[in-house]
Amino acid sequence: MYSIAVIPGDGTGPEVIAEALKVLDATAKLKGFRYRTNTYDFGARRYLATGKIIDDGDVQELRSYDAMLLGAVGHPDVPPGILEKGLLLRLRFELDQYINLRPVKLYPGVECPLADKSPEDIDFVVIRENTEGLYTGMGGITYKGTPNEVATQVMCNTRYGVERCIRYAFELTRKRNRKKMLTLCGKTNVLTFAHDLWWRTFNEVGEEYPDIKRDYAHVDATCMWMVKNPEYFDVIVTCNMFGDIITDLGAMIQGGMGVAAGGNINPAGVSMFEPIGGSAPKYTGKNVINPIAAISAMGMMLEHLGEHEAADAVERAVVHVTANRLRSMSAGKMGYSTSEVGDLVVEAVGAAK
Ligand code: IPM
Ligand code: MN
Repeated sequence: MYSIAVIPGDGTGPEVIAEALKVLDATAKLKGFRYRTNTYDFGARRYLATGKIIDDGDVQELRSYDAMLLGAVGHPDVPPGILEKGLLLRLRFELDQYINLRPVKLYPGVECPLADKSPEDIDFVVIRENTEGLYTGMGGITYKGTPNEVATQVMCNTRYGVERCIRYAFELTRKRNRKKMLTLCGKTNVLTFAHDLWWRTFNEVGEEYPDIKRDYAHVDATCMWMVKNPEYFDVIVTCNMFGDIITDLGAMIQGGMGVAAGGNINPAGVSMFEPIGGSAPKYTGKNVINPIAAISAMGMMLEHLGEHEAADAVERAVVHVTANRLRSMSAGKMGYSTSEVGDLVVEAVGAAK
């Protein structure tokens, strides 16, 4: 029996999570695994009503789950940074989810903004370091509001943090068994301290993986190639900030925020899966948002839990629906409502039996 913590969160988060749970239920019945969910009301509504985000006790409680499923975080009435830092980043950091795994895969039938690129061309994985880099909150502001104001934001990289991320990336590249090529995405020509550490660690750890080809690209060139020749990539490993940026670009070339899913992974603890788009305030409550990303995030969760057959069934069902049923991946243009898309995936899961 799997125990799953569900945090629907803000905006359209609850709408897409409801569909992911519908598909989870159908898949469990089909494949015969059992689970129970507990829902947490963390997010903007609770914060605006009570001033509370999450406390130590909440974090402690979440450690007891097998996995977590998160909808979205962020609300126009809450200043930027409060919920992001207080909820999402806090969970990633305190639960030591040091890998952010973001597959970039174009499914058949999904419209791609790149001319002449098809599903065979867009199928790679980004491994984003998830607990360090520019995200630690180190730095500060002095002389605030004066002409002498100074603001620093420190890019913190530890050998320990970089090494475990890179090691995970080599392992995944081996397991994936495609081109067997791992690209380090950095900026060694400018970040001559921080990314020198990445570069040296990459090459040292790489010695232990003679079967994996080591490749390097600066982050700006990575962006260029993701548009020009995405077929080049197999697995990309990168720091937190660069990973954040290139995976939004990745989401666009795989059909948009409606389809992009990711996992915040602690290989030795509890991991959290989420659609990578935001809370989409303007679509909230309209039943028009695309739930495919949340459904795929749930599929990634099943894979992580070791339910490989169930995860495959979810992916096949998603592919069936995107290829044959949806007119577009964009909110309001799918030809179906949010809940109808969930129903279509449930139906496809059943049909694939
Ligand atoms: C993401 C998001 C977050 C990030 C924000 C909401 C803090 O953009 O998951 O990519 O920057 O990591
Ligand atoms: Mn992001």
